[in-house]
Amino acid sequence: MNVTHYFRRIFQQSCAIGYQHINQQFKIFGVSRRTMSKKSVYITRTINKEALDILTERFDVASWTGPGPVPRDELLKNIKNKSGLFCMLTDKIDAEVLDTAGKNLKIIATMSVGYDHFDVNEIKKRDIKMAYTPDILTDATAELAVALLLATSRRLLEANQEAKTGGWKAWSPFWMCGPGLKDSTVGIVGFGRIGQEIAKRLKPFGTKRILYFNRSEKNVEATKIGAERVTFDELLTHSDFVSVSCALTPETKNLFDEKAFGKMKKTAVFVNTSRGGVVDQDALVEALRNGTIWGAGLDVTTPEPLPLEHPLFGLKNCVILPHIGSACVQTRNDMAVLTAKNIAAALNGEPLLTELIV
Ligand code: GLV
Repeated sequence: MNVTHYFRRIFQQSCAIGYQHINQQFKIFGVSRRTMSKKSVYITRTINKEALDILTERFDVASWTGPGPVPRDELLKNIKNKSGLFCMLTDKIDAEVLDTAGKNLKIIATMSVGYDHFDVNEIKKRDIKMAYTPDILTDATAELAVALLLATSRRLLEANQEAKTGGWKAWSPFWMCGPGLKDSTVGIVGFGRIGQEIAKRLKPFGTKRILYFNRSEKNVEATKIGAERVTFDELLTHSDFVSVSCALTPETKNLFDEKAFGKMKKTAVFVNTSRGGVVDQDALVEALRNGTIWGAGLDVTTPEPLPLEHPLFGLKNCVILPHIGSACVQTRNDMAVLTAKNIAAALNGEPLLTELIV
């Protein structure tokens, strides 16, 4: 054995002893080497510090920090081998994302109450947990629905535009009039948490009747609020205001089509704060153009953002907002924190705070 061989042997033996020693230490502490490496989480947007800290304290975290939603190719590149995904309603989570992520992915948490961007069947097939943010955004979203209803019916944006551009010549008796809530009938489609809060907020305006259409009966809640369950057609024909707060599902896709608008009053105001997909948008354009209904307030459209050249933007009787239902400062902070806590819980093997079970 020459000198080189001798030192190589010594080096290999030292490494083996070191390796055994490290393994021994792991055994003493009852953990395998594999679990010592931190789990990793990918976040598809820049989030608030409070939420980020919850994750960075425990996990390796990478985020998309560019402007707007994470581009698809970035998501696919970054999701590989991650244990947790913190995503938004702008991120489509389908088989391709899940396959690219691989077996490590244990939790997908969306910072939204809606989850129509999830391919739920594909996620369930892989035994990945899902979380969302119900309840904490209910008040903010109901508040926005009421604001949008009033902005549409009382023509706030149109009136403001007139005031700014010289259309305001003098106080005029019948100028800028619209339907009021007093003595009106309000129809709520989707009488879940948000629908009920919209109803509660509209009652003090002196509404005469609150109708609701919902898949399941909401007797207890409806009695407290003083709302009546009706069929979809009854709601359409009797309501002065129709407010939509249902989830987008195969059953509610294009629920508001030409036929539905045709059943509504010519004086009706239509308000949608759920998802653009519940409306056949071409049918809505026609209904607004030819006076089938009086006006529409939309916080959601298809697609989002709605292209600037879309005919809805050219209609004075349509108020369009850029999907800001839950956009209260505290609400959005709380939503991000809840999403982070759900991921931390799942990766620590604890029960989730708001697991999505469908
Ligand atoms: C907003 O639309 C949400 O789903 O949270």
